[in-house]
Amino acid sequence: MPVLPSLASRCLRPLLTLGLLAAAIPVCADEARIDALLARMALEDKIGQMTLVERSSLRPGDITRYRIGGVLNGAGDAPEPNSAASWRAMTAAFQQEALATPLAIPLLHGVDAVHGHGHLKDATVFPHNIALGAADDVELTEAVARATAEEMLATGLWWNFAPALSIPRDARWGRVYEAFGEDTELVARHGAAWLRGAQRLRPDDQAGEGQQLLSLGTAKHFIGDGATAWGSSTTGDFQIDRGDMRDDEATLRRIDLPPYRAAIEAGALSVMASFSSWQGVPLHGHRYLLTDVLKGELGFKGFVVSDWGGIDAVRPGDYRGAVVTAVNAGVDMVMVPADYPQFTSTLLQAVRDGAVSEARIDDAVRRILRAKLALGLQQQALPSTDWQASIRSPQHLNLARQVVQRSLVLLQNREQTLPLAQNLPLLRVAGPGADDIGLQSGGWTLEWQGQPGNHTAGATILDGVRALAGNATTVEYSASGEFTATTRADACISVLAEAPYAEGVGDRADISLNPEEIALLQRMQAQCARHVVLLLAGRPRLISAQLGLADAWVMGWLPGSEGAAVADVLFGVVPFSGRLPVSWPRSAGQLPLNLHNSSGKTGCDAPLFPLGHGLRAGQQWLATGECR
Ligand code: BGC
Repeated sequence: MPVLPSLASRCLRPLLTLGLLAAAIPVCADEARIDALLARMALEDKIGQMTLVERSSLRPGDITRYRIGGVLNGAGDAPEPNSAASWRAMTAAFQQEALATPLAIPLLHGVDAVHGHGHLKDATVFPHNIALGAADDVELTEAVARATAEEMLATGLWWNFAPALSIPRDARWGRVYEAFGEDTELVARHGAAWLRGAQRLRPDDQAGEGQQLLSLGTAKHFIGDGATAWGSSTTGDFQIDRGDMRDDEATLRRIDLPPYRAAIEAGALSVMASFSSWQGVPLHGHRYLLTDVLKGELGFKGFVVSDWGGIDAVRPGDYRGAVVTAVNAGVDMVMVPADYPQFTSTLLQAVRDGAVSEARIDDAVRRILRAKLALGLQQQALPSTDWQASIRSPQHLNLARQVVQRSLVLLQNREQTLPLAQNLPLLRVAGPGADDIGLQSGGWTLEWQGQPGNHTAGATILDGVRALAGNATTVEYSASGEFTATTRADACISVLAEAPYAEGVGDRADISLNPEEIALLQRMQAQCARHVVLLLAGRPRLISAQLGLADAWVMGWLPGSEGAAVADVLFGVVPFSGRLPVSWPRSAGQLPLNLHNSSGKTGCDAPLFPLGHGLRAGQQWLATGECR
C-alpha cells in the first residue's frame, strides 16, 4: 500500500493563502505527515525524488532502483503507436515501478502540453498562447487549460510544463508565441486563469475536505526569459533564446515578476527556472531570485524544477559544481534529463561532503511531496479510463474553434473587403499554409519543432473556406498561387505561414516576408478583384513594404488543429474581435520594439500597429505616410 497518506478526511490546514480563490482551490496538505514521511526516507530516497528523467533514457527497473520521483516525455517523444492507449500503458508502467519502491511514492510524469496535448496524435490542438492573449478572455483561457488537462488525464499525465509567463520584448525571439503577450497585466491575468483551469478540482471532490487538484501546471520560465538581449545567447546558433537579460532589478520587478505573483496566488505549485541569465548569472544558479525572491518574498510553497539539462550551464565543464550551485540556489527537482546515475551519485556525494545540507534536501523534497499530495496521487496514481472521451470531444473542438474565431486580428481592411460575401462566383485560395494542419499548428505539435503536413486530425483553413463559401461559389486552390484559368477572381485569400519552429531554433534575424511570399502576393494581387492576406505566424512579421499588395490583412497566429474556424470570421459569421497582444514593428531598425520601449514614439518611429490594435467591421486603418 502506498505510504503517502490519504488527505481525504484530514486536511488540517490550508497550505496556501489563496485570497479570493481560497474557496475555489483549497490546496491542503498535512505538513506533519510530510514530516513523518521524510523521517522514513533515506538520503537515496530523497535524492531520487529530486530527479526528473526523460523517459527514453530510463532503463527498466531503474525508477524503483533509483527511487526516481519524476519522469517526462520530452518534446517530440511519444510512445509507439502514438495513441491514448499506448500513452496510458507507458505512464502506468512507470507508475508501477514507482509504487514498487519501499515507500511507494508516486511519480510526477510531465509533458509539454502547451497548446493542448499536442504530442498525442489526434488530440485537440488549441491555438498557441499568443492567440489566447489576442482573444483576451480569461474564461476562454481557463477553459482551454481545463480541456488540455482532461486530454492529458486520458493518457495518465497529471503534470504540464505550462503556462509560459514570458514577457517577450523582441519579435525575433523563437518563443514569442508561447507567451500571452508583452503586457505584464495581461500575462498575469491569463497565466492565473490558465493555472485555475488546469488545477481545478476534480469534479467528484467539489465539496468539503480532501479536495485535490485536477492536474499540475508549471509557471515558466522564471524569470526574464523574454527579456534577453539579441546576440547574447551562447547556445549553438541561438541568438536571443537562453541569452542574458540586462535589465535592472526595478525593471525586472515591474515587468517580469507580477505574473509569478499572480500565478502563486492562483495556486501554482511548480515553477520552472529559465535557461537564460540575469546580468551574466544563470537563473539556474541564482539564489537571490530563486530562493530570496520567489520562495521568500513571494511565498512560493511549491517546487522549482530545472529546465532540460539547465543546471549544466551553471558551471560549464564542472558538473559537481553545477549540481551544488543549482540545488543550493533553490532548484528542487532536476530535469537531468538523461544521465540520472551521474546526477544522483553527484548529489549524494555532495550531501555527504557537506557541500549541500540535508536541510536543503529536506526542503526540496517537502516541496515536491506537497505537490504530489495536492494532486491526490496517493489515491490514484495509475491512469484511469474516465477521461478517454475527452480527447477531441465535440466540446473541446468547439472550444478550439471559439479561440480561433476570437483571436483573429484584423490589421487592415480597405473598402470593407472583409467580411467576404458567401455568394462570390470565383474565390481563389493560395499558399501552402492554407491546407496544412502542421503549418497552422506551429511548434510543439507532435514534434518539438512542429512539422508541415497533415499528421494529426484537424480541419484546414481551406476546409473552412470551402464549407462557407456558398454553393454557387467556385473555390480554386493552388499552393503556389498559379492558376490555369486567366479569369479574374472576385476575391483571393493568400495564406502566408511561417515554417514551424520552437525555442531558439526559431530565433530569426530577419522577420520580413521572404521573396517567395512576396512573389505569391504579387501574383495573387494581379488576378483578384479583392485580395485578403492571412498571416499564420508566431510573431509579427515586417510587412510595411507589402501592405499595398492586398486590401485586407489578418493576423491568424497559429490556430492549431481547428484552423477551419478562420473562415467563420473571414465570411462574417462571427465578427472580428481580437486585439494585438504585442506591438507590431514597422521596420527591422526598430527591433527590439515593445510596449516597454516604444511609449511616446510617434509617426515613423511608432509601431506599425500598436499593442491593442484590432479593427472592427467597417473600420479601416489609416497608415502613417511613407516611412523609410
Ligand atoms: C524547454 C521547456 C520545456 C522542456 C521540457 C525545454 O527545452 O525550454 O520549456 O518544458 O524543454 O520539454
